Amino acid sequence: MAFKRSDGRKLTELRPMIAKVGVVPNADGSALFAFGSTVAIAAVYGPRKLHPQHMQNPATGILRCNYDLLSFSVYDRKRPGPSRRSQEISKVTEWALSPALYLESFPSSVVDVQIYILQADAGTRTAGINAASMALAHAGIPMRDLICSVAVGKNDKEVIIDLTKEEEDYKEGEGSTDFAVAKLANSDEFSLLQLDGKIQPEVVSKAISMAKDACIQIYEIQKKALKDCVEGVQNE
Ligand code: CDP
Repeated sequence: MAFKRSDGRKLTELRPMIAKVGVVPNADGSALFAFGSTVAIAAVYGPRKLHPQHMQNPATGILRCNYDLLSFSVYDRKRPGPSRRSQEISKVTEWALSPALYLESFPSSVVDVQIYILQADAGTRTAGINAASMALAHAGIPMRDLICSVAVGKNDKEVIIDLTKEEEDYKEGEGSTDFAVAKLANSDEFSLLQLDGKIQPEVVSKAISMAKDACIQIYEIQKKALKDCVEGVQNE
Protein backbone atom coordinates (compact mmCIF):
# COMPACT_ATOMS: atom_id res chain seq x y z
CA MET A 1 0.00 0.00 0.00
CA ALA A 2 1.31 3.48 -0.88
CA PHE A 3 2.63 5.50 2.05
CA LYS A 4 0.19 8.20 3.22
CA ARG A 5 1.18 11.29 5.20
CA SER A 6 -1.12 12.17 8.08
CA ASP A 7 -2.15 15.46 6.46
CA GLY A 8 -2.62 13.84 3.04
CA ARG A 9 0.34 15.58 1.40
CA LYS A 10 2.51 13.95 -1.27
CA LEU A 11 6.06 13.05 -0.20
CA THR A 12 7.46 16.05 -2.09
CA GLU A 13 4.65 18.48 -1.24
CA LEU A 14 5.31 21.51 0.97
CA ARG A 15 2.70 22.81 3.38
CA PRO A 16 0.87 25.92 2.11
CA MET A 17 3.29 28.84 2.36
CA ILE A 18 2.63 32.48 3.23
CA ALA A 19 5.23 35.20 2.73
CA LYS A 20 4.80 38.89 3.43
CA VAL A 21 7.23 41.77 3.93
CA GLY A 22 6.88 44.97 5.92
CA VAL A 23 5.07 43.39 8.87
CA VAL A 24 6.99 45.37 11.55
CA PRO A 25 6.78 49.06 10.58
CA ASN A 26 9.40 50.29 13.06
CA ALA A 27 12.09 47.86 11.89
CA ASP A 28 14.46 48.67 9.01
CA GLY A 29 13.17 45.55 7.27
CA SER A 30 10.77 42.79 8.23
CA ALA A 31 8.98 39.73 6.95
CA LEU A 32 6.67 36.89 7.84
CA PHE A 33 7.06 33.37 6.50
CA ALA A 34 4.77 30.41 7.21
CA PHE A 35 4.89 26.71 6.38
CA GLY A 36 1.34 25.64 7.28
CA SER A 37 0.83 26.40 10.97
CA THR A 38 4.52 27.18 11.58
CA VAL A 39 4.71 30.97 11.49
CA ALA A 40 7.91 33.03 11.81
CA ILE A 41 8.46 36.78 11.77
CA ALA A 42 11.82 38.46 11.35
CA ALA A 43 12.78 42.08 11.97
CA VAL A 44 16.09 43.64 10.88
CA TYR A 45 17.74 46.60 12.62
CA GLY A 46 20.84 48.23 11.18
CA PRO A 47 23.50 48.27 10.01
CA ARG A 48 24.60 50.40 12.96
CA LYS A 49 27.84 50.90 14.90
CA LEU A 50 28.66 47.86 17.02
CA HIS A 51 28.99 48.37 20.76
CA PRO A 52 30.91 47.69 22.94
CA GLN A 53 33.62 49.12 20.73
CA HIS A 54 36.14 46.31 21.36
CA MET A 55 33.84 43.98 19.39
CA GLN A 56 34.14 46.12 16.26
CA ASN A 57 36.05 44.72 13.29
CA PRO A 58 37.29 47.43 10.90
CA ALA A 59 37.51 44.78 8.12
CA THR A 60 33.84 43.76 8.22
CA GLY A 61 30.43 44.10 9.75
CA ILE A 62 28.80 41.26 11.64
CA LEU A 63 25.38 39.62 11.49
CA ARG A 64 23.74 38.95 14.86
CA CYS A 65 20.63 36.76 14.91
CA ASN A 66 18.35 36.10 17.81
CA TYR A 67 15.82 33.27 17.35
CA ASP A 68 13.16 32.50 19.92
CA LEU A 69 9.89 30.62 20.27
CA LEU A 70 7.16 32.71 21.86
CA SER A 71 5.80 31.12 25.04
CA PHE A 72 2.45 30.12 23.57
CA SER A 73 3.75 29.09 20.14
CA VAL A 74 4.04 25.50 21.41
CA TYR A 75 1.65 23.13 23.23
CA ASP A 76 3.67 23.03 26.45
CA ARG A 77 4.19 26.70 27.28
CA LYS A 78 7.84 27.60 26.71
CA ARG A 79 9.56 29.47 29.50
CA PRO A 80 10.43 32.97 28.21
CA GLY A 81 14.08 33.79 27.61
CA PRO A 82 16.99 32.17 25.88
CA SER A 83 17.66 28.43 26.06
CA ARG A 84 20.47 26.23 24.80
CA ARG A 85 18.22 25.35 21.83
CA SER A 86 17.46 28.97 20.92
CA GLN A 87 21.14 29.93 21.20
CA GLU A 88 22.12 27.10 18.88
CA ILE A 89 19.42 27.96 16.34
CA SER A 90 20.41 31.65 16.47
CA LYS A 91 24.00 30.64 15.63
CA VAL A 92 23.10 28.30 12.76
CA THR A 93 20.76 30.98 11.40
CA GLU A 94 23.68 33.44 11.31
CA TRP A 95 25.80 30.86 9.48
CA ALA A 96 22.97 30.07 7.06
CA LEU A 97 22.40 33.73 6.15
CA SER A 98 25.95 35.14 6.16
CA PRO A 99 27.07 33.76 2.76
CA ALA A 100 24.35 35.87 1.11
CA LEU A 101 25.51 39.16 2.62
CA TYR A 102 28.22 41.67 1.71
CA LEU A 103 29.08 42.35 5.35
CA GLU A 104 32.48 43.81 4.35
CA SER A 105 30.49 46.88 3.16
CA PHE A 106 29.72 47.72 6.79
CA PRO A 107 33.01 47.81 8.71
CA SER A 108 32.73 47.95 12.51
CA SER A 109 28.95 47.59 12.27
CA VAL A 110 26.28 45.09 13.20
CA VAL A 111 23.09 43.99 11.49
CA ASP A 112 20.66 42.65 14.07
CA VAL A 113 17.96 40.15 13.10
CA GLN A 114 15.24 39.26 15.60
CA ILE A 115 13.32 36.10 14.70
CA TYR A 116 10.23 35.14 16.62
CA ILE A 117 8.15 32.02 16.12
CA LEU A 118 4.49 32.85 16.61
CA GLN A 119 3.29 29.27 16.06
CA ALA A 120 5.44 26.16 16.01
CA ASP A 121 4.63 22.95 14.19
CA ALA A 122 8.20 21.87 13.28
CA GLY A 123 10.43 23.56 10.72
CA THR A 124 10.73 26.72 12.78
CA ARG A 125 14.43 27.29 12.09
CA THR A 126 13.84 26.96 8.34
CA ALA A 127 10.79 29.26 8.39
CA GLY A 128 12.83 31.72 10.47
CA ILE A 129 15.70 31.67 7.95
CA ASN A 130 13.26 32.28 5.06
CA ALA A 131 11.66 35.20 6.92
CA ALA A 132 15.07 36.64 7.89
CA SER A 133 16.39 36.43 4.34
CA MET A 134 13.38 38.39 3.07
CA ALA A 135 13.62 40.89 5.93
CA LEU A 136 17.31 41.56 5.11
CA ALA A 137 16.40 42.22 1.48
CA HIS A 138 13.52 44.43 2.61
CA ALA A 139 15.96 46.40 4.80
CA GLY A 140 18.06 47.08 1.69
CA ILE A 141 21.10 45.18 2.98
CA PRO A 142 23.25 44.38 -0.09
CA MET A 143 22.87 40.66 -0.84
CA ARG A 144 24.29 38.21 -3.38
CA ASP A 145 21.09 36.20 -3.32
CA LEU A 146 18.15 35.21 -1.16
CA ILE A 147 18.50 32.22 1.14
CA CYS A 148 15.85 29.50 0.93
CA SER A 149 15.47 26.92 3.64
CA VAL A 150 13.41 23.79 4.23
CA ALA A 151 13.52 20.64 6.32
CA VAL A 152 13.61 17.33 4.56
CA GLY A 153 13.51 14.10 6.48
CA LYS A 154 12.53 10.52 6.85
CA ASN A 155 9.42 9.11 8.39
CA ASP A 156 10.47 5.48 8.98
CA LYS A 157 11.49 4.63 5.38
CA GLU A 158 10.06 7.39 3.18
CA VAL A 159 11.91 10.61 2.38
CA ILE A 160 9.50 13.50 2.93
CA ILE A 161 9.67 17.27 2.69
CA ASP A 162 8.69 19.88 5.28
CA LEU A 163 7.87 17.64 8.25
CA THR A 164 5.15 18.52 10.74
CA LYS A 165 5.69 18.05 14.47
CA GLU A 166 3.66 14.84 14.28
CA GLU A 167 5.96 13.54 11.54
CA GLU A 168 9.07 14.62 13.43
CA ASP A 169 7.88 12.73 16.50
CA TYR A 170 7.29 9.46 14.58
CA LYS A 171 8.87 6.62 16.56
CA GLU A 172 7.90 3.40 14.70
CA GLY A 173 10.43 1.37 12.66
CA GLU A 174 13.47 3.50 11.84
CA GLY A 175 11.80 6.52 13.45
CA SER A 176 12.08 10.00 12.00
CA THR A 177 14.97 12.06 10.70
CA ASP A 178 14.98 15.83 10.39
CA PHE A 179 17.48 17.40 8.00
CA ALA A 180 17.39 21.21 7.85
CA VAL A 181 18.78 22.60 4.61
CA ALA A 182 19.46 26.18 3.48
CA LYS A 183 20.95 27.32 0.20
CA LEU A 184 21.53 30.35 -1.96
CA ALA A 185 18.52 30.52 -4.24
CA ASN A 186 20.40 30.84 -7.52
CA SER A 187 23.35 28.54 -6.98
CA ASP A 188 24.13 25.13 -5.56
CA GLU A 189 25.91 26.71 -2.60
CA PHE A 190 24.47 25.31 0.62
CA SER A 191 24.74 27.33 3.81
CA LEU A 192 23.10 24.89 6.22
CA LEU A 193 22.94 21.10 6.40
CA GLN A 194 21.86 20.12 9.90
CA LEU A 195 20.93 16.51 10.51
CA ASP A 196 18.97 15.30 13.50
CA GLY A 197 18.48 11.51 13.44
CA LYS A 198 19.83 8.88 11.09
CA ILE A 199 19.96 8.72 7.31
CA GLN A 200 21.62 6.19 5.02
CA PRO A 201 24.41 7.69 2.85
CA GLU A 202 22.59 6.59 -0.33
CA VAL A 203 19.46 8.51 0.75
CA VAL A 204 21.28 11.80 1.41
CA SER A 205 21.52 12.82 -2.25
CA LYS A 206 17.81 12.07 -2.76
CA ALA A 207 16.95 14.18 0.29
CA ILE A 208 19.13 17.06 -0.89
CA SER A 209 17.68 16.97 -4.36
CA MET A 210 14.15 17.05 -2.87
CA ALA A 211 15.16 20.05 -0.74
CA LYS A 212 16.60 21.81 -3.81
CA ASP A 213 13.31 21.39 -5.69
CA ALA A 214 11.41 22.75 -2.69
CA CYS A 215 13.76 25.75 -2.50
CA ILE A 216 12.77 26.70 -6.06
CA GLN A 217 9.15 27.01 -4.88
CA ILE A 218 10.14 28.86 -1.71
CA TYR A 219 12.22 31.34 -3.72
CA GLU A 220 9.24 32.15 -5.96
CA ILE A 221 7.07 32.91 -2.91
CA GLN A 222 9.80 35.06 -1.31
CA LYS A 223 10.40 36.97 -4.55
CA LYS A 224 6.70 37.60 -5.07
CA ALA A 225 6.33 39.02 -1.55
CA LEU A 226 9.26 41.40 -2.11
CA LYS A 227 7.97 42.46 -5.54
CA ASP A 228 4.45 43.04 -4.17
CA CYS A 229 5.95 45.29 -1.50
CA VAL A 230 7.98 47.35 -4.02
CA GLU A 231 4.96 47.67 -6.33
CA GLY A 232 2.78 48.67 -3.36
CA VAL A 233 5.21 51.49 -2.50
CA GLN A 234 5.39 52.62 -6.14
CA ASN A 235 1.58 52.78 -6.38
CA GLU A 236 1.20 54.87 -3.20
O1 CDP B 1 11.43 23.78 14.75
P1 CDP B 1 12.59 22.99 14.24
O2 CDP B 1 12.12 21.74 13.51
O3 CDP B 1 13.52 23.81 13.42
O4 CDP B 1 13.45 22.55 15.51
P2 CDP B 1 13.29 21.33 16.53
O5 CDP B 1 14.20 21.65 17.68
O6 CDP B 1 13.51 20.05 15.81
O7 CDP B 1 11.81 21.43 17.06
C1 CDP B 1 10.78 20.74 16.44
C2 CDP B 1 9.45 21.22 16.98
O8 CDP B 1 9.33 20.84 18.33
C3 CDP B 1 9.25 22.72 16.99
O9 CDP B 1 8.94 23.26 15.73
C4 CDP B 1 8.08 22.81 17.94
O10 CDP B 1 6.87 22.48 17.25
C5 CDP B 1 8.41 21.72 18.96
N1 CDP B 1 9.01 22.29 20.18
C6 CDP B 1 8.20 22.39 21.31
O11 CDP B 1 7.03 22.00 21.26
N2 CDP B 1 8.69 22.97 22.47
C7 CDP B 1 9.96 23.41 22.52
N3 CDP B 1 10.43 23.96 23.64
C8 CDP B 1 10.80 23.29 21.38
C9 CDP B 1 10.30 22.72 20.22
